[in-house]
Amino acid sequence: MGTTRMVYIVTMLFSLIVLILSSSTVGYDYFQFTQQYQPAACNSNPTPCKDPPDKLFTVHGLWPSNMNRSELFNCSSSNVTYAKIQNIRTQLEMIWPNVFNRKNHLGFWNREWNKHGACGYPTIRNDLHYFQTVIKMYITQKQNVSDILSKAKIEPDGNIRTQKEIVDAIRKGIHGKEPNLKCQKNTQMTELVEVTLCSDGNLKQFIDCPHHFPNGSRHNCPTNHILY
Ligand SMILES: *[C@@H]1O[C@H](CO)[C@@H](O)[C@H](O)[C@H]1NC(C)=O
Ligand SMILES: *[C@@H]1O[C@H](CO)[C@@H](O)[C@H](O)[C@H]1NC(C)=O
Ligand SMILES: *[C@@H]1O[C@H](CO)[C@@H](O)[C@H](O)[C@H]1NC(C)=O
Ligand SMILES: *[C@@H]1O[C@H](CO)[C@@H](O)[C@H](O)[C@H]1NC(C)=O
Ligand SMILES: *[C@@H]1O[C@H](CO)[C@@H](O)[C@H](O)[C@H]1NC(C)=O
Repeated sequence: MGTTRMVYIVTMLFSLIVLILSSSTVGYDYFQFTQQYQPAACNSNPTPCKDPPDKLFTVHGLWPSNMNRSELFNCSSSNVTYAKIQNIRTQLEMIWPNVFNRKNHLGFWNREWNKHGACGYPTIRNDLHYFQTVIKMYITQKQNVSDILSKAKIEPDGNIRTQKEIVDAIRKGIHGKEPNLKCQKNTQMTELVEVTLCSDGNLKQFIDCPHHFPNGSRHNCPTNHILY
């Protein structure tokens, strides 16, 4: 058997093993980083928020997701304690508050970790790494949606915006990629409630968000007349 043939066979075997390992361990293709506009999130809740919301987009969650939309849920049931995250607690409370109940931030973080974060292995190594990754994205990598909008002179002043204005502003903050917007009907107006930024499965670069709320869905944003 010639050397070329050996090299060929070894290469093929190696590729096959890599293929099997990668397809059997990873159930996600990309990540959704979803941030909620606090006043709108409070409006969406059947019970009013106990504390007044800030006019800020803060983290809802970082969700490993599939192109084929198959469900990825509840990959763990382990809770972190305040002791384990004491070094990052202050930052987490700032960027990822439980706006519905500010006395129980930890419950919110643990729900997000167990329901979504733990499904992101191996990009997300463990619970602590999940929380650190979100801090890095929001603060260090400047994925703060309030800040991205503000840089384009879109402030939360209760004015009416077009979908294009908002999307174009966000695109500037994420290398031209397409975000996903979520709206909801307020008593009189349709308001912006969430913005999702999408990244590849290694969290290395932004991608166009593959899924949008379809026309007719109650969360679809209108072309014009979005309250923010
Ligand atoms: C959906 O995609 C993921 C990731 O590529 C894959 O692991 C999963 O088997 C797919 N599910 C279906 C139902 O096709
Ligand atoms: C995930 O866990 C939550 C809370 O325990 C539960 O309400 C939900 O039904 C579970 N979802 C799936 C798909 O198992
Ligand atoms: C995690 O905390 C929730 C409420 O905070 C509790 O209901 C649940 O039993 C805890 N799970 C574990 C595994 O400790
Ligand atoms: C996010 O951006 C807003 C608007 O610029 C700013 O007020 C807020 O402090 C920022 N949050 C963090 C944690 O940097
Ligand atoms: C949804 O509506 C918009 C605006 O009316 C239109 O441009 C777009 O093509 C529609 N999308 C689908 C999938 O029907």
